[in-house]
Amino acid sequence: MPDSIREWQPLCSSSDLEEAGKAVLFDVMEFGQSVQAFAIRYDNVPVAYVNRCAHVPTAMDWQEGQFFDQDRRFIICSIHGALYHPPSGECVAGPCAGARLLAIELKEQGGQVFWRPTQRLQPLF
Ligand code: FES
Repeated sequence: MPDSIREWQPLCSSSDLEEAGKAVLFDVMEFGQSVQAFAIRYDNVPVAYVNRCAHVPTAMDWQEGQFFDQDRRFIICSIHGALYHPPSGECVAGPCAGARLLAIELKEQGGQVFWRPTQRLQPLF
């Protein structure tokens, strides 16, 4: 794979991600198909996942960009209530306990958040 494909991609401004707040949604290519991903901030660290529940492959937000449960401790799937640990993406309760969301590596630098493509997840061109 050419190195250019692995270059960090600008995602959003740091201030767009409030602690346990609304997600920033973005699209990536997975195996040639566009899929939605989301970034949130938890414990002051930005994390991102493909918006696809590990139980049934469907979007999880209960309103667009809203992924946190009422206590703002877990990512919750709006379909059957699976709870995911925000830093790891591991399902800690619900029908897919032990499974994981597909993570996207982020870095925060100079007030900006960037995501890192992989062989599987690529930028849209
Ligand atoms: S689809 Fe997410 S918990 Fe069932």
